[in-house]
Amino acid sequence: MAVIRDWKAFLTPYEQAVEELKVKLRSIRKEYRRKNEYSPIEFITGRVKEVSSILEKANKFGIPIDRLQYEMEDIAGIRVMCQFVDDIEKVVEILRKRTDMQIMYEKDYIANVKESGYRSYHMIIKYPVNMAEDTKEILAEFQIRTLAMNFWATIEHSLNYKYKQQIPENIKDKLKNAADAAFNLDKEMLEIKDEIKDAQKLFEVKSDVISNIMSSILTLMSIGKIAEANRYQIALNKLIEDGEVWEFNNLFYSIERDIEKFKEA
Ligand code: GTP
Ligand code: MG
Repeated sequence: MAVIRDWKAFLTPYEQAVEELKVKLRSIRKEYRRKNEYSPIEFITGRVKEVSSILEKANKFGIPIDRLQYEMEDIAGIRVMCQFVDDIEKVVEILRKRTDMQIMYEKDYIANVKESGYRSYHMIIKYPVNMAEDTKEILAEFQIRTLAMNFWATIEHSLNYKYKQQIPENIKDKLKNAADAAFNLDKEMLEIKDEIKDAQKLFEVKSDVISNIMSSILTLMSIGKIAEANRYQIALNKLIEDGEVWEFNNLFYSIERDIEKFKEA
C-alpha cells in the first residue's frame, strides 16, 4: 500500500474547497438577507477530516491509501443548518442548480431515518479546486439538517466518541427517545413556521429602523445639535423596550426632518 508522505499537500485542495464552499453558501444567506427575504440557510460549518480519522476510516472500509481521493467522500465536509424541515429541500434545490459543482449522489436520511435515529440530507459532490498550476477535482459531502437534527447528531456523535462506538443499551434507548423528541420539535416548529417568520421579520424591521435612528442621531451630533441629539436619544431609549414599529418610524422621520431643517438653516 502506498503511503502519503505529504499530508499537507494532499489535504490542501480539500482545505481550499471547504473555505470556498463556506463562503459560497454564506453568500446565499447574505443575498436573501439583503433582499429582506427569509433565508432557508441558517448557518454553515465546514471541516477537513483529521488525518487520524482518515486513516481510521480507510482501515475500517479497506480503502487503499492511493484510492482515498476517489473513495473517501467526506474528507471535505460542509454542514448546512436550517430552521425548518421544509427549508432542507429548498437548499437541496439550490445546490442541484449550481454550475460550480457536480452532484454524484444523494442520501435522504430524513425520509429514511437511520437505525440510530440519525436524520439529515446528504449530498456527495465533485468539486473542482483551482490550484496554482492545475485543477484538482475533489469529493465533498454536504450534510443538510435542521437545528434540532444537528443538536441530536452532535450529542450522539460525542457519546459514540466517549464510548468508542459501544454506547450502552440504556443510553441508546434514551438517544432514540431524544431523536423522537427532536423529530417532534421539528414537526411542531413547522406548524408555527409562518408565525415564527412573522416575528423574526418584525424584529428585523425594528432593528433596521433603530440603526437608522442611531445614525441620524450621530448626524445631528456631527452638525453640532447636541441638545436635540440628546433629546432624541432619550426618546429612543423610551421606545426600545416595547415601542411599535410605527413609533420608531415616526421618531426616525422627525429626526430626519430636523436634520433637513438644520442643514437648510
Ligand atoms: P461513514 O462511515 O462516516 O461513511 O458513515 P455511514 O456510511 O454509516 O453513513 P453515511 O456515509 O451516509 O454518512 C456519513 C456521515 O454522516 C458520517 O460521517 C456522520 O457525519 C454522519 N452520520 C451518519 N450516521 C450517523 C449517526 O448515526 N450519527 C451521527 N451523529 N452522525 C451520523
Ligand atoms: Mg459512508
